[in-house]
Amino acid sequence: QRTMGPEDGVGKQSVRTRVALPQRTLRTDRWWLPPLLTTLGLAAFVVYATIRSFMREGYWDAENHYLTPFYSPCLSTSCVPGSSHFGTPIGELPEFIPLAFLSLPFLLGFRLTCYYYRKAYYRSVWFAPPACAVTEPHARYTGETRLPLIVQNVHRYFFYVALSITLINTYDAIVAFGGERGLGIGLGNVILLGNVVMLWCYTLSCHSCRHVTGGRLKHFSKNPVRYWIWTQVSKLNVRHMQFAWITLGTLVLTDLYVWLVSTQTIPDLRFVN
Ligand code: FES
Repeated sequence: QRTMGPEDGVGKQSVRTRVALPQRTLRTDRWWLPPLLTTLGLAAFVVYATIRSFMREGYWDAENHYLTPFYSPCLSTSCVPGSSHFGTPIGELPEFIPLAFLSLPFLLGFRLTCYYYRKAYYRSVWFAPPACAVTEPHARYTGETRLPLIVQNVHRYFFYVALSITLINTYDAIVAFGGERGLGIGLGNVILLGNVVMLWCYTLSCHSCRHVTGGRLKHFSKNPVRYWIWTQVSKLNVRHMQFAWITLGTLVLTDLYVWLVSTQTIPDLRFVN
């Protein structure tokens, strides 16, 4: 085999342009399956989360002190009594505003600008491109160098807010061990705790967290503590995609369980007390 060269028309100019193929792709495998599954998975979560965030029902189980993460922190006087772990500094909210309106936009922003989710929806929703060696429908590619995609750079700031919200969710999960009957453990506690552990894994495996812990250092040897933290974060970071999907699942599971228990559709399975 010989290497392609200028004599084949592969010069500086032709490298910049696309290969003119009559077909959209020469791939014969099911390359469309991963983008399709990604679209369905993301759409299912968005639809569920949107409906639940506006429902204002089944978000607080007064008996077991379970609060769904979709309504945390609940800071309005519209929240049912007991669900506001941090007081009610905000007055009544009209029905069209979700009770967690302070945290939801940041959580949404954190996920939307996440490096993994960007890759996922650029491919599956925006088709830029949908898969390797498959032509994208767009005539031009400008990356994230101009509006609106340049805004993706704010991800590093969303990270700090997401960190605070994960702390709040952790507090909610701890409070849930002390229900009306006193200290106890139920299946709801296990689900809330599992969700929080996964949220920590997702948040700490964020690429911005990796930069915060180990970025801008010239010598790791002179910063052994930061180097150690960066090493641990990096171990989580390689599984960031898995955590991104797992947390979508644990968030829905946690919310669904709190919804069903608080509306007495199912009883809470108690292990202790
Ligand atoms: Fe995914 Fe930061 S890169 S949350």
